[in-house]
Amino acid sequence: MSTSGAFGVQILSSGVALPQRVVTNRDLESLMDTTDEWITKRTGIRQRYSVDPAKGENTRTLGLNAAKQAIERAGVTGPDLDLVIVATMTPDMPTPATAPLIAHALGTNDAGAFDLSAACSGFVFSLNTAAALIGSGAYSTVLVVGVDLLSRHVEFSTRGRSTSVLFGDAAGAVVMRRCTDPAKGLLAQAMCSDGGGATHLYIPCDKDNMLCEDDDPEAFPLDQLRMHGQQVFRFAVSKFPNLIAETLDAAGLGPNDIDHYVCHQSNARILEAARQRFDIPTEKLRVNIDRYGNTVAASIPLVFDELNTEHLIKPGQKVMFLGFGAGLTWGSSLWQF
Ligand code: ACO
Repeated sequence: MSTSGAFGVQILSSGVALPQRVVTNRDLESLMDTTDEWITKRTGIRQRYSVDPAKGENTRTLGLNAAKQAIERAGVTGPDLDLVIVATMTPDMPTPATAPLIAHALGTNDAGAFDLSAACSGFVFSLNTAAALIGSGAYSTVLVVGVDLLSRHVEFSTRGRSTSVLFGDAAGAVVMRRCTDPAKGLLAQAMCSDGGGATHLYIPCDKDNMLCEDDDPEAFPLDQLRMHGQQVFRFAVSKFPNLIAETLDAAGLGPNDIDHYVCHQSNARILEAARQRFDIPTEKLRVNIDRYGNTVAASIPLVFDELNTEHLIKPGQKVMFLGFGAGLTWGSSLWQF
């Protein structure tokens, strides 16, 4: 947990991109043994978006479209960017990273560009990294993209129903810039991990590299997400309140001082438990998982973009971003706007 910043940092704008295809719970009922009622009651999800690779929808194009919207809304152009960070656990290929491709398509002038892999915590880790680099004076205008296509790693069948109903594909982006007011920017942040919990949520690539001895490599295709849902649920419900409390402590603030809690959307029940624990009013903790499912690194910018386009984020407000996911990883980013 730490605070930072010699210079002020602002989040200037946001953007999102969604695939064309909507997959409702009713659609899934025709593909597997599941029901709208089971999914809605357990998770709060009613629909999600899914890419169609034949239409050219992939990590790069989705991320690029979100980035274009964010930089247009910020009133900047590609050459203004000096760093591009893409949070993703589902790049189109192992190398090159997605970020240089997006930076090139935006017409940056040799901007630094790298991917950051921290699953559902990836966007928060990227925000913290960008804020530190801007706050130190090393960079001035940074694009952060969160994009994930989990539809590539789940199976739309009864065998894959415990994961395929949960996830959706999406991209979100923000443009961040150095400013002259040092009061603006990060008030506190945390980036944490526990690799001891890696087996709860992982995608194996070959049968000799299974993380969990109990997982039969023949029983389920490699390259498909393995998830122990109840362990992940317990991890999230226990870590989430501690993360909020520790971040508030680090900034010397109380729960009521925060204007918006922008949280990773993994399950409406997990968010509701945290909301009740701190007595956070519903309007301060937006839940949009019903429309998008769990979009991994994209879920936080998707929520932020809704608040931003509805003009609910105002100068002087305090916004806490919170993420947790595979790794296991978890992190927070508390901002003064
Ligand atoms: N439809 C119908 N039945 C189902 C489905 C489905 N889609 N999926 C599982 N079931 C069945 C199971 O087979 C099981 O049946 P059984 O009792 O006959 O064995 C029953 O429903 C209960 O299954 P559980 O897994 O115990 O259900 P649970 O109440 O734990 O809910 C859920 C499952 C929703 C996945 C929950 O555990 C959860 O949300 N966990 C957190 C998951 C999460 O957040 N993952 C993403 C992390 S983010 C990242 O970094 C990628």
